[in-house]
Amino acid sequence: MKLYKELAEWWPLMSPHTEYEEEASLYLEIIRRYHPDIKTALEFGSGGGSNAYYLKRHFSMTLTDLSPDMLEVSRKLNPECEHFQGDMRNLVLDAKFDLVFIHDAIMYLTTGEDLLEVMRNAKRHLNENGILFIMTDQFEETFRPETSHGGVDKDGRGMRYLEWTYDSDPEDQITETEYAYILRDENGNVFREYDHAKSGLFSMGEWEELLRGAGFKAIFEQINYTSVDGIYYGIVAAQTKT
Ligand SMILES: C[S@@+](CC[C@H](N)C(=O)[O-])C[C@H]1O[C@@H](n2cnc3c(N)ncnc32)[C@H](O)[C@@H]1O
Repeated sequence: MKLYKELAEWWPLMSPHTEYEEEASLYLEIIRRYHPDIKTALEFGSGGGSNAYYLKRHFSMTLTDLSPDMLEVSRKLNPECEHFQGDMRNLVLDAKFDLVFIHDAIMYLTTGEDLLEVMRNAKRHLNENGILFIMTDQFEETFRPETSHGGVDKDGRGMRYLEWTYDSDPEDQITETEYAYILRDENGNVFREYDHAKSGLFSMGEWEELLRGAGFKAIFEQINYTSVDGIYYGIVAAQTKT
């Protein structure tokens, strides 16, 4: 997506980190219920680092992303965190963590094989009692087409966007999202960009089975956002004995 490459510097205007405070506290409450003593966490697909901005107050966070441009955005917000570039399917760090956190990033993988690789890689990076927490926006059971919009003005620049997610082919396991961005730079020049993303759409049963195959037991926890409509679940994946 252009958003995570040449347009990455606009991310803080599209999705300011201040909009993540509630969700980070909801995730933290769930994570602590399953592991009350997290000291170290690794995030796959940390993007602009917005959840990390709040979670790092409770444990150390190591942040990783496929996109060097998004890592640059996160480094500005989270200068005290270590950042590494890599694909969540095969990135290898020489360390183990109490938590692997994946938020709003794993859905860019659209096959079961890819998901399995990520899960196995998460397990490779977990301490013995460590847990995996996955927040994916959509499950087959809860998916509905939707539109949203937003964006803010900041430091002389402005951005507004419209986002439309739909299922163009109910026979496959992919949804599509179209984005229209309107951008205004510091000199008042206004320009438009279009973007597109594909996301995987799997049932809760498929997630459960894939996680079992990677050595995890999945628990689905409903997330009750006050500011967003719809039904959302986080997946807590506890390691099974091998
Ligand atoms: C919406 S952002 C994540 C937001 C972030 N969790 C936060 O709290 O701010 C999605 C990120 O997923 C990353 N991503 C997509 N596919 C990836 C992959 N295979 N491995 C690692 N990162 C990936 C993108 O580069 C992008 O930065």
